[in-house]
Amino acid sequence: MKSVTDSPRQDLGAKAVFVAKAIGRRALWAPYDIKHKLGGGDPLDPPRGLSFVGHGDFRDVGRWYVQQFETLGGLTAEDRILDIGCGIGRMAIPLTDFVKSGSYEGFDTSNAMIRWCQKNITSRNENFRFTHAPIYNRKYNPFGTVLAEDFRFPYDDAQFDFAIATSLFTHLGIVETRHYLEEIARVLKPGGRALVTFFLLGGPGRPADGRDLAFDFAFAFGPLRTTDAREPEAAVAFPEELLDEEVSTAGLGIKPPITYGRWPEVAVGRDIQDMVILEKTARARGDSSGSNGVASPA
Ligand SMILES: C[S@@+](CC[C@H](N)C(=O)[O-])C[C@H]1O[C@@H](n2cnc3c(N)ncnc32)[C@H](O)[C@@H]1O
Repeated sequence: MKSVTDSPRQDLGAKAVFVAKAIGRRALWAPYDIKHKLGGGDPLDPPRGLSFVGHGDFRDVGRWYVQQFETLGGLTAEDRILDIGCGIGRMAIPLTDFVKSGSYEGFDTSNAMIRWCQKNITSRNENFRFTHAPIYNRKYNPFGTVLAEDFRFPYDDAQFDFAIATSLFTHLGIVETRHYLEEIARVLKPGGRALVTFFLLGGPGRPADGRDLAFDFAFAFGPLRTTDAREPEAAVAFPEELLDEEVSTAGLGIKPPITYGRWPEVAVGRDIQDMVILEKTARARGDSSGSNGVASPA
């Protein structure tokens, strides 16, 4: 069986690929983005050249997920929401129509995406705030200076009613995932919930090895699986049994049922990832010390 080895975290190759892709994407979409802006397009449509958070219709995917937060996770308009790896506001934009007396905090490792959100979303909705976190991710931020496994979310304990992580754990390794589950448990209020997405292996109708499906999880990535040995963060799959263990160790529980996505059959679509509702069940671990290079919002 092929396996991904622990490659150097700060390798020049990843940085070069990242810069080349960023320039290429902006150049490719420049005619469209300029025309959209000059033609008075919706200011809440992010430039395509900046937005690389997934396939499909950006606005439609966001609206669909907000329905899932409400129907599966019980999100209310009064909730305090945390969006982990918020990208360029795909969830935040439709949430601005949903949230009433509640509030929204999002953080992400992409400085460009966070700046766009601050300029275009916070300026119109003061209860929506965005924080840049300089976290290393080979695919999304090879210039990051803080490892995800050491990153303390920049919020005090028990601050949030609802946490969101859409298409985030599908780009993290086991150590980072474990730490992020602990952080979710720390920042949720008792009884707080989270909607998180995964590619789960070994569930109903899913082979444990993740092979020969619309996504081919051909390589081991520690106890997880990935589609790409050279860039394992491209798409990561997680054994369902292991997730059960990790979630309960973190002080969370899985609220059944899991809503399975269509990723074994199709590679593109708003409903391809598996959706898991987490609940804060026990006193979570974590303390009030630690550093992450980011100032806590007031
Ligand atoms: C596929 S995008 C999804 C973005 C957003 N959640 C959405 O659904 O539109 C993955 C996002 O995770 C961010 N990311 C990657 N590693 C991260 C980490 N360790 N902590 C926070 N964000 C991270 C990336 O910068 C990127 O914006």
